[in-house]
Amino acid sequence: AESKRSKLLEINKEAAKYFYFQLRARQGEIGYRYLRDRQLSDETIKKFGLGFANKTSNDLVQYLRSKGYPPELIKEAGLCNVDEKHGMYDKFWNRVIFPIEDINHRVIGFGGRVMGDGTPKYLNSPETPIFDKSRNLYGLNFARTSRKGNIILCEGYMDVISMHQAGFDQAVASLGTAFTLGQASLLKRYTKEVLLSYDSDGAGVKAALRAIGILKEAGLTGKIISLEPYKDPDEFMKNLGKEAFQERIDHAENSFLFEIRMLEKEYNLSDPEDKTRFHREIARKLCDFSEEVERENYIEAVAEKYHIGFENLRKLVGSIAAQTG
Ligand code: CTP
Ligand code: MN
Ligand code: MN
Ligand code: MN
Ligand code: MN
Repeated sequence: AESKRSKLLEINKEAAKYFYFQLRARQGEIGYRYLRDRQLSDETIKKFGLGFANKTSNDLVQYLRSKGYPPELIKEAGLCNVDEKHGMYDKFWNRVIFPIEDINHRVIGFGGRVMGDGTPKYLNSPETPIFDKSRNLYGLNFARTSRKGNIILCEGYMDVISMHQAGFDQAVASLGTAFTLGQASLLKRYTKEVLLSYDSDGAGVKAALRAIGILKEAGLTGKIISLEPYKDPDEFMKNLGKEAFQERIDHAENSFLFEIRMLEKEYNLSDPEDKTRFHREIARKLCDFSEEVERENYIEAVAEKYHIGFENLRKLVGSIAAQTG
């Protein structure tokens, strides 16, 4: 099994090299242009080993075969598809390529983006013996040695790369929105504080709320970086720049207060009945703080922010806690 793993790592390394050189070849110019248009520097492109997969449909397969790699291995690495009519053909074609590295800078998989509006926007390697998505974070190979004292968790390849390019070398991505407990445990090895920087759209907010729970479960504290009015860290950086982003980091929101603020949107606070339900829901959430001082501090913060009488809220929390034990 160990030799299987090392063979898969080797073939991925070879594929990454191939994509990397394609980006610099004549056929790859369109990919190179795409990345430069997205304001990535040559240095950044090199640092992240970005590449290009050609339009012709079995370039990589042929290249790997010519290097002596067996078809079985190419298949197992997830680098090709197979069907009866076409035989083996490249999984990635006509896309810019983002190699995914583990914490030791070994290539364990790939993401490929269409240059434009096609679907799927991103295509990713399947799970393989060396690629377990739920146990890896894109960018952690660099972020692990950051001296910033926190980790910024975001959604995507471009977010991580833009942030690193702007000097935020503590950024990592869960690649999509499904953050797992395995990824949280991985983060815990490197930091105590996670700053969430998920997209500001509906899916991103939902994912952030989920991630807060998972971080808590792993014993990490999270804060939320507001990207408004932009959609994700990449767009924010492009429009407002790094000083503004640092501002947003400095003013990152307490995750509990973020949860309550999102909850608030579900209620019509001009209706006394609805408002009461909102306050009860807040009180229920406040019960989760088992340490007395911490609970008091949150009661105080929430009472002030939502104009609830402190003593009233405290009593409500107390009675709910007594009911539920
Ligand atoms: N993703 C994916 N497959 C998709 C869409 C997204 O795997 N079809 C993952 C990618 O890792 C992507 C991340 O989810 O980077 C975030 O997705 P999204 O916010 O939709 O894309 P962006 O990263 O913002 O893409 P871009 O800036 O390139 O348009
Ligand atoms: Mn998104
Ligand atoms: Mn996005
Ligand atoms: Mn984006
Ligand atoms: Mn006020």
